[in-house]
Order: sequence, then structure tokens, then C-alpha cells
Amino acid sequence: VNEIAYVNGQFVAKADAQVNIEDRGYQFGDGAYEVCTIANGQLLDAQPHVKRLERSLRELRIAMPDLNIEQLCLETAQQNHVEWGIVYIQVSRGVAPRNHAFPDKSVLPAVVITSRSMSYPDVFARGEKGVAVISTPEIRWRRCDIKSIALLPNIMAKQEARDVGAFEAWFVNEDGFVTEGSSTNAWIIRDDTVITHPVTNAILNGITRQVVIRLLEKEGLQLKLRPFTLDEVKQADGAFMTSTTVCVTAVTSIDGVDIADGKVDDRILTIAARYKEHVHSAAG
Ligand code: PDD
Repeated sequence: VNEIAYVNGQFVAKADAQVNIEDRGYQFGDGAYEVCTIANGQLLDAQPHVKRLERSLRELRIAMPDLNIEQLCLETAQQNHVEWGIVYIQVSRGVAPRNHAFPDKSVLPAVVITSRSMSYPDVFARGEKGVAVISTPEIRWRRCDIKSIALLPNIMAKQEARDVGAFEAWFVNEDGFVTEGSSTNAWIIRDDTVITHPVTNAILNGITRQVVIRLLEKEGLQLKLRPFTLDEVKQADGAFMTSTTVCVTAVTSIDGVDIADGKVDDRILTIAARYKEHVHSAAG
């Protein structure tokens, strides 16, 4: 299962799929990607994901492939019999002899799409129960708004978390503010207000984040877009993270310090439930 990949115009068995050793994605991390939810065989929030890919590529001055990305994602999911899961889309600048400067315009971007199944009941259950996070110094570049495939600081941070039995790492910048997680957006609730970092070059504007912002409005919950400190997390009434793969997941401790005595705030459970409905809404 989940063994077929779309590679530059063809569906191939992953075992036979090849990446050129001079692909700039492989050599420089020179490319962008997206991860989208497949809910009951349907793509969730396809349009914002495709738009964000377009934007990332534009910022990197990589041509957007002239392909029906949505259709190819669905086909990749189908080929792999993925009813519930994710699709991964990667576009690199293409293949050229190694040289930092861009290759000639005739070099076409390389496109890879894969898909794998995920257990949403498990994701939702973990989200309601809550997870532990750690903090880690923000060592990333100043263009975290681009969904670049170059993710060394992110994978180092995630592993740092896993090494101490935590689920995620939240980056804290030099001014003491939390930006986001290694692969998730970060949120706290304080009194009646839900707080998350505003859209700047310091974070990825998560699609899940955007959906949750709309859901908050519908629920009549106050939203404040501002950075928050590590101390604020420790003193918060609740904390959570969002992404395509974790949906809405409660955070019950940071750096070993319980948040709200380790109890998940009811409002987080409400937001998580509404997001779950959103996922099911795509399924028809
Ligand atoms: N990560 N911030 C970062 C750094 C991310 O890598 C992601 C997503 C998010 C949340 O974005 P969205 O809600 O659009 O998934 C925020 C994906 C899932 C990944 O790298 O696997």
C-alpha cells in the first residue's frame, strides 16, 4: 500500500522511482512543498494549498508547473488507495550541474507527489488528550513564510523534542517570543482570548490556522494576532497547535511545566470538534 508516486509526468512504483543526483532539491533543498488532507478520497482545502504553493514558488522564482495539481493529487491518492490521509507535493527547481546560481530557464521544475494513509481517529484522540512540547531557540531563516523543502532546523527541533519524549518543539526567537512549532502553528488561550502569531515572514501561514481563525469567529471566541512569550504559555489557560497532519492538538505541558494543571481547556475541545467537522465536510 501507498507504494505509487507521481514523478515528472508518470505514475511509478516507489521502488522504481528515481531522483537525479543533480536535482537541485536534493543538492540545495531548492524547492517548495505542500501537504494536503485527503478526507474520504477528497482533497480538503485544495485551493488555498495550491495558492500557497504558487506563492512559495513565486517567491523562490521557480515556475509553477503547468499541471492540474488538484487532479494529480487525487489520482495519486487513488493509486495508493488512500481514503483518509495526506498527499505530499514537492516541486524543486530541477536538474542541472551543481552551481549555486539558477540554471537556464529551459530547465523544468521537478514534480513529485506521494500519498499515504493516516488514522484520523488516532489524530483526533491524541489531539483531545494533549501532548507535551519543548521550547527551542529559533535558528531558522527570515523567510519562514515560504514552504521550503529546506527543513534542517525543523527536523533538528522535532528530534530534540522526540529525544525527551515530547511531541513537538516550539521555536522561541531572540526577543523571547514563540513563533511556531517545527511543523505546526502555535496558539494559547488566555482569559477569553485565543492568541496566535500574526502572519509575517517569521511563520508559515498554515491552512489549518486559517480555517481555525474562521471557526473561532463562528464560535464567538475572541482572537488576538500577536506573538506570545514562553512565560505566557506556562501561565495560559490552554495551548494548542494546528497543522494538516495534527489537526487541532492540545498542548498540556511545555518544557515539563504543566499548562493549566495539565487539563485541556473546554474551548480547545470545541475548536478541535469544529475542525473535525470541517475535515468531514470535505468528505461529503
Ligand atoms: N507542516 N508551520 C510549519 C513550519 C509547518 O511545516 C506547517 C505544516 C505548519 C502548518 O501548516 P498547515 O496548517 O498548512 O499544514 C506551520 C506540514 C504538515 C509538514 O511539513 O508535514
